[in-house]
Amino acid sequence: MIGLVYMELRQQICDICQKMWQLGWAAANDGNVSVKLPDGTFLTTPTGMSKSFVTPEKIVHIDSNAEIIDGFGEYRPSSEIKMHLKCYEERDDIGAVVHAHPPFATGYAAAGKPLDEYCMIETVLEIGSVPVTPYGTPSTDEVCEAIAPYLDEHDAMLLKNHGALAVGVDLVTAYYRMETLEHFAKVSLITHLLGGAEELNRADIDRLVDMRSRYGLTGKHPGYKKYS
Ligand code: 13P
Repeated sequence: MIGLVYMELRQQICDICQKMWQLGWAAANDGNVSVKLPDGTFLTTPTGMSKSFVTPEKIVHIDSNAEIIDGFGEYRPSSEIKMHLKCYEERDDIGAVVHAHPPFATGYAAAGKPLDEYCMIETVLEIGSVPVTPYGTPSTDEVCEAIAPYLDEHDAMLLKNHGALAVGVDLVTAYYRMETLEHFAKVSLITHLLGGAEELNRADIDRLVDMRSRYGLTGKHPGYKKYS
């Protein structure tokens, strides 16, 4: 029944939407969130709605072709759903996708500057360097093509002239990665105002990347390749 199927996940999407809106990551209808269900179908935020107004019954249940299985009223899947589906298609380990326009990260995306300095231990551990993917018109296959090569190594990326994308094994993990990314962007900007980052050395980076398994961190990490 609409509104009751996967209620806990619907509520979790709403909680994340609220956080994104309150944090100023999503002006007007910006941003979208999706989660993969055990049967291979998906829940997605509806298109064209402020993330502050998303409630569980407005979440749209779709199949892997973005065809609606359950939806209430006029609610349609996010216009960015192709980008989300591409993430799930490329990697079996991805269970949730979060897209937002956090101002600091989006500033880097608009400037075409990657967040690739290994200067904060938490960021090195959790997401590593964050690339800027090539520009693509939102909602089109261009965005899918732009992000696909980066999914091999990255769980967080900047979408050129657009915003940010984070993936994870579940909703909370994907959301945390977006938080980590925005925090990294904020600290990076301050670091540059103070004259530039002092990066960690290779041995310390390796040690941190090795610690990922001890902390139970999932997903991809570009740490080794960047410096090899
Ligand atoms: P939707 O409202 O279709 O999800 O699109 C929002 C958005 O972020 C566009 O970039």
